Amino acid sequence: MKTVLITGAGGGVGTHLRQQLAGKYALRLSDLRRLKPEPGETFVQADIANLDDMLRATKGVDAFVHLGGYSVEGAWKDILNANIVGCYNAFEAARRNGVKRILFATSNHAVGFYRRDQVIDHRVYIKPDSRYGVSKVFGEALGSLYADKYAMEVFCMRIGNVGTVPIDKRRLSIWISPRDIAQLVTIGIEHPDIRFEIVYGVSNNRRTWYDNSNATRLGYSPVDDSETYAAQVLARERAGDPRAEIYQGGAFVHSEKVDNPTPLPRRRAAPAAPRAVARKATSKVKKKAPAKK
Ligand SMILES: NC(=O)c1ccc[n+]([C@@H]2O[C@H](COP(=O)([O-])OP(=O)(O)OC[C@H]3O[C@@H](n4cnc5c(N)ncnc54)[C@H](O)[C@@H]3O)[C@@H](O)[C@H]2O)c1
Repeated sequence: MKTVLITGAGGGVGTHLRQQLAGKYALRLSDLRRLKPEPGETFVQADIANLDDMLRATKGVDAFVHLGGYSVEGAWKDILNANIVGCYNAFEAARRNGVKRILFATSNHAVGFYRRDQVIDHRVYIKPDSRYGVSKVFGEALGSLYADKYAMEVFCMRIGNVGTVPIDKRRLSIWISPRDIAQLVTIGIEHPDIRFEIVYGVSNNRRTWYDNSNATRLGYSPVDDSETYAAQVLARERAGDPRAEIYQGGAFVHSEKVDNPTPLPRRRAAPAAPRAVARKATSKVKKKAPAKK
């Protein structure tokens, strides 16, 4: 049985994947937050922004599903830390540990400034709608580099919105059910001919904005369609900001901050040193040796 690492396993998508992939793979869960593993799972607490942590987490796995990170629009420092530094560490740790297959959770927000009256495929030029979207484009670019330069096998899933049901009009076009995302992830883990691929992580939605032929080519055959829920969803829909109505990315095209579904645990501040000790410590500071040329 393959061992599959999932970072960000405590988040919404990770929770669905744990249920869907149970028994199929030996799941190595990883997250900044402590998680309780179920039978068939192990847990490694790790900060993706720390390369040593990621080297520990990626050791000896057959495939790596990288979900961990900041999952909405937010402050640049949070996105930089989790999605730029963290994403680099994920790919680099996988490379150093000889993990060839990596599945990267990119997002519809990498192309969120396409209009809703356009149908786009995996080859369109990127059009991120937010700093968050830019960070996903960075991850895709990194994946391309690691595939070409280090022969890694990289499967980028531009996920729409994962949930048991679609929650609003925009999500009717980009929704993906838990069993469909599990099918896509399984293809990403198992398909023998992955070099570098971009696919859309969406169900078989009648209202789709994507030509997902690249996923179809790799065998993806989603079973759910958001249309089942359309009447219910549209009945409670309220008009939003007109800019959000034009673009596929919705509110991300104008918002500076979106509520984080899984706020990060606060890092505990280091206890302040007592004054006397602090003075003593400063008096002991050695002069820096001149840099070697
Ligand atoms: N949920 C969706 O529909 C959706 C859509 C598009 C893309 N995505 C992407 O899929 C991935 C998972 O999404 P989600 O909805 O489960 O997100 P989430 O916010 O629910 O979960 C993210 C997880 O990452 C962890 N995390 C954050 N910073 C970390 C760090 N520095 N080190 C280790 N762990 C850290 C969090 O603790 C959390 O458990 C994300 O990368 C997200 O951008 C999700």
